[in-house]
Amino acid sequence: MNLKETRMKLCRRASELAGYRGTVGFVPTMGALHAGHLSLVGECRKACDTVVVSIFVNPTQFNDPKDLENYPRTEEADLALLEAAGVDFVFAPPVEEIYPTPDTRMFDFGGLDGVMEGEHRPGHFNGVGQVVSRLFDIVKPDKAFFGEKDFQQLAIIRHMVRQLGLGVEIVGCPIVRDTDGLARSSRNMLLTREHRQAAPHIYEVLSDAVRSLRGAVSVADAKRIITERIDAEPLLKTEYIEIADAVTLQPAGSWGNAVGDLRCFAAVHAGNIRLIDNIAI
Ligand code: PAF
Repeated sequence: MNLKETRMKLCRRASELAGYRGTVGFVPTMGALHAGHLSLVGECRKACDTVVVSIFVNPTQFNDPKDLENYPRTEEADLALLEAAGVDFVFAPPVEEIYPTPDTRMFDFGGLDGVMEGEHRPGHFNGVGQVVSRLFDIVKPDKAFFGEKDFQQLAIIRHMVRQLGLGVEIVGCPIVRDTDGLARSSRNMLLTREHRQAAPHIYEVLSDAVRSLRGAVSVADAKRIITERIDAEPLLKTEYIEIADAVTLQPAGSWGNAVGDLRCFAAVHAGNIRLIDNIAI
């Protein structure tokens, strides 16, 4: 595609991000864009005068080097989608622009990272904190848009912004699902045909469970039942099911003890691909 003929500006360097108008909205991504990302861009476009999207596969948030290597990279197609969505600036830097020297900062997320993804992917959220704070520093947005599919990430970023006084309004946007219920994710394109057909079973089980299990069985039994139901599909293997407070993310001991609303969180392997999902209870 010839970007010279479009109004979208592709920037590889921080210094090229110049000439903003009015309020600046930012959608950070790792590329391999899908309808979930485009809904964030749509919300950003509605709320802000200037829309900036970053495409950067952040090495520091991958605890598994194989996962980093296999992460899908589809820049050409991403740029075409972003241009059609009316984006003003795409920031797609090389690694050295984000990390001129190794980032050794350690974040304190107040325990929000001690459970679920934080527990199962050591160092992941510290890497997310590093890249998001660095991107905010470069892009200088007024508002930034994140999807609720990564619900724990959203909570951690809100916490970081408050703790460091970053002055960015964080906007959470609902999960976008395929018509069969599978939460949209860049990793879905890596699924085999068979695993893609099996994957909607995760949401089927979660949505049925939240209707039928709350109050009917204990929280511990509900987690066991949900795990068994997901694993009844031979192509799926549950890594964890958690029922946790939607604000503190701490596991709920009972249905009544939650401070705020409860949510059910799932991480499931479909072959080599790890999928996550969550749903309000
Ligand atoms: O959610 C993602 O795609 C990434 O974690 C993010 C926020 C772009 C940081 O690399």
